[in-house]
Amino acid sequence: MRISSVAALSTLLIFAPVSALVPAKFINDCTNFATGFENENTEVLSSTYVLKGAVIPLPDSCSLTVTSRANFCRVKLNVTTSSSSRVIMEAWLPTNWNNKGKRLLMTGTAGWGGCLIFEDMAWTSGLGFAAIGHDSGHVGVVATGFTNPEVWKDWVYRSVLVATQAGKAATNHFYKTSLSKSYYMGCSSGGRHALKLAQDYPDEYDGILAAAPAVYWPNLEVAEAIIARTVGAEGSPTYLTQAQWEAVDAATMAQCDGIDGVIDGILENPARCDFHPETLLCGPGQTWLLNGCLTVAQIQTVKKLYSPVYSNGGRYIYPGLVPGGLPSQGIILKYGPSAGAGPRDFLRYVVKNNPSYDLSQFNLDTADEMVDNDWSGVHSNKSDLGGLQASGNKLLLYHGLADVLIPPAVSYEYYNSVSLNMSLTSSGLDPFFRFFPISGLGHCARGKGANYVGGPQQVQYFPGAADNVPAGNSALMSLVKWVERGQAPETMRAYKLGLLGETLGQKDHCKYPLRTTYKGHGNPNNKGSWECT
Ligand SMILES: *[C@@H]1O[C@H](CO)[C@@H](O)[C@H](O)[C@H]1NC(C)=O
Ligand SMILES: *[C@@H]1O[C@H](CO)[C@@H](O)[C@H](O)[C@H]1NC(C)=O
Ligand SMILES: *[C@@H]1O[C@H](CO)[C@@H](O)[C@H](O)[C@H]1NC(C)=O
Repeated sequence: MRISSVAALSTLLIFAPVSALVPAKFINDCTNFATGFENENTEVLSSTYVLKGAVIPLPDSCSLTVTSRANFCRVKLNVTTSSSSRVIMEAWLPTNWNNKGKRLLMTGTAGWGGCLIFEDMAWTSGLGFAAIGHDSGHVGVVATGFTNPEVWKDWVYRSVLVATQAGKAATNHFYKTSLSKSYYMGCSSGGRHALKLAQDYPDEYDGILAAAPAVYWPNLEVAEAIIARTVGAEGSPTYLTQAQWEAVDAATMAQCDGIDGVIDGILENPARCDFHPETLLCGPGQTWLLNGCLTVAQIQTVKKLYSPVYSNGGRYIYPGLVPGGLPSQGIILKYGPSAGAGPRDFLRYVVKNNPSYDLSQFNLDTADEMVDNDWSGVHSNKSDLGGLQASGNKLLLYHGLADVLIPPAVSYEYYNSVSLNMSLTSSGLDPFFRFFPISGLGHCARGKGANYVGGPQQVQYFPGAADNVPAGNSALMSLVKWVERGQAPETMRAYKLGLLGETLGQKDHCKYPLRTTYKGHGNPNNKGSWECT
């Protein structure tokens, strides 16, 4: 008796609010999603409805939980890509999709992939998008699976393609009507996929939002290998601690903060900062502990990291780190003890096919081998965007100017390479390709400036941003306005946020090649103190 009445009560508690909030038909369509669903090589793994506000456990993911921001149908799919590879993906299909523009949004993955960015799926399904995510062809952040060339191919480009097709099919099937517009957003590796789509599959998306793209991937891995080797193991003479990197950052600010006309801890034009770390050099008998100075070996480390990488033959490979962003992310510490997982794994599982390859074997001959081969097209560097131009679809690119993982210089290089290849000046590119450098933004998130733009991989690092910042000004919704209303973005609105997501300042970052320029007076945290020149 007791037990069954408790059971009856909990049934009421669980199910009564559901039927009140979500129409029975929606629940029924969701539960029966697989009925009549057809897409090539695709199996429906599950379909369940989720309530707004539910805390969703994510046992197979890189996040522990995520909080739902919509009532939605959660569909999991398994898409076979070859006899030895597959892509696991999800579609989050919200109840209010029909009156929110019938839009699809594909979320990109990060690093070696293997994890859906559920925070982005929650945020965008909350905005009414059918939010799609995929695992890029393998589970978790490990790269061991890349010894199978099919799994590598999935990570390089195929996962995004099949997930796009299956995601569109799932959306059309569930709502029994054709979706209106498709969008993609991704940062870092997800930004590389964004460029890949613009280059090779320009018809798939009406709008593509690319952030801090890992374009020129093999070149990036060469640079990271060199960084890891230059920094050395923790405690070696060449190594710098976090506190020492912070001293480097302080010296950078002392030398360069004023170049943009205002001392605010942000370098608006870091490329104009010709940083000389020698100001930190220890004199005779001086030490870090007593004098806060650095040794010759440490100064050499700093100089080398800030310098571009060239091959044996003198060929340019990759830019150096950008000044003014080093300690803000702690990322540089990764290059120490657990050095260089990116290049190490690329060398182990793709280039050398030798799981015991160690970065101590790396030299500049290896660099040539990495850069000169195609690796299934992972460079993602095609500069001819004629297909995108012809399609009428849009590419919106932004990159943090305090990004120490992928230097912002690569986005300038890519933008300029497109300009050259297509013989188009910026006004010629404007109809389909716009680039916004964002000062004070680290890699995808973090950094000290007005740097919440409402783009990929941001909401999980800016607590409260999804609730406190109006989504209408976000990079994502600016892209939507560009595509659907022809309102092309001239600036990118960014918010400087406090620990709880409260707004401490705003800046409208200017479209390259214009510069975001201080007017010479006024609070630098006020967007009215800046103009595009
Ligand atoms: C996905 O399908 C493949 C067959 O293509 C199968 O080997 C694999 O176990 C499936 N994965 C899941 C999670 O069901
Ligand atoms: C892309 O990278 C490859 C490999 O380094 C290089 O050969 C090619 O010239 C690059 N293409 C463009 C358009 O820059
Ligand atoms: C532009 O890129 C295309 C495709 O990669 C290439 O065939 C062409 O030679 C390039 N044109 C110029 C002017 O660089």
